[in-house]
Amino acid sequence: MDEVEALRAELLSAVSGASDLAALEDARVNALGRKGRLTERMKSLGALELEARKAMGARLNVLRDELNEALAARKTALSSAELEARLASERIDITLPVRPEREGRIHPISQVIEELVAIFADMGFTVAEGPDIEDDFHNFTALNMPPDHPARQMHDTFYLPPDANGERKVLRTHTSPVQVRTMEAGPPPYRVIAPGRTYRVDYDMTHTPMFHQIEGLAIDSSTHMGHLKGCLIDLVRTFFELDDLPTRFRPSFFPFTEPSAEMDIGCSRKGGELKLGQGGDWLEILGCGMVHPKVLELAGVDPTRYQGFAFGLGVERCAMLKYGIPDLRTFFEADLRWLRHYGFAALDTPSLATGLSR
Ligand code: DAH
Repeated sequence: MDEVEALRAELLSAVSGASDLAALEDARVNALGRKGRLTERMKSLGALELEARKAMGARLNVLRDELNEALAARKTALSSAELEARLASERIDITLPVRPEREGRIHPISQVIEELVAIFADMGFTVAEGPDIEDDFHNFTALNMPPDHPARQMHDTFYLPPDANGERKVLRTHTSPVQVRTMEAGPPPYRVIAPGRTYRVDYDMTHTPMFHQIEGLAIDSSTHMGHLKGCLIDLVRTFFELDDLPTRFRPSFFPFTEPSAEMDIGCSRKGGELKLGQGGDWLEILGCGMVHPKVLELAGVDPTRYQGFAFGLGVERCAMLKYGIPDLRTFFEADLRWLRHYGFAALDTPSLATGLSR
């Protein structure tokens, strides 16, 4: 074997023997790098006679091409082997069952607020908000309950300690102050609902010191009692999913509405079991009325040009009736077993976008 044959055998076997891309690069540098074996051999051609140089140069060129081909082929082989190895080691077994995970539940209060908001959104109402800590003016005075008005005693109010001016803020006793704040914020028309927390000093089977209401306010130049009835009848029939749910409006009193009414829905209490929608009994569901001219006036709305209705309903009461939850206090005891039983899967909660369709 002559010298070139020996070099060829050596360099090609280094290429075919390279076990990974790094070793292959070493083999390349060792053969064709600036100080590589073949490179050096080519540099020494100059020392040869012309004829010998031509012959040897041709052989070396052939060897260089052969080496380059071998390098490229080996590189392809090693790269795909490396990829295969990675694919094998990083394989995800998608047939494995997922590990069970505890799902959170939506509290019935949140669920019912979402349901009611979705119904009112379909009727063109938007959501308004007000603070839980209210001043006396918005919670009482502006709602036609001046100081010493007997109606203030209807609410067992939580008072905060007096501030520097001697003013005592309250935890709002109802969501009605949001009516006032809405009217103060800009001119009619208004079509808003205000869900939120409310507070009264009370605790038994049917009362908790914190509870939730949804307030409604619809004011423009022509809204009348017929609109009030239509809106609220639609509301309860949609919410309770009973198209023929009987309803009635009973005269009542609220200082901020005139006339005022309470709305009842039909039910039966036969055998101690409450069933909505049938039977001769009635169940009170909400308070409502035509907004008192005095209330409009105090909020800066001209009662000779504008009129409309308001209503307030208890969220817990709606939840208890619709979902058969017997004791109000359990809503706020933070018992996970209760929440898992009465709560809702996140995807069942309607949103403004989906409406009530599930
Ligand atoms: N604010 C009343 C309450 O908490 C409920 C209510 C009654 C609100 C009549 C209204 C209404 O807007 O018109 O007892």
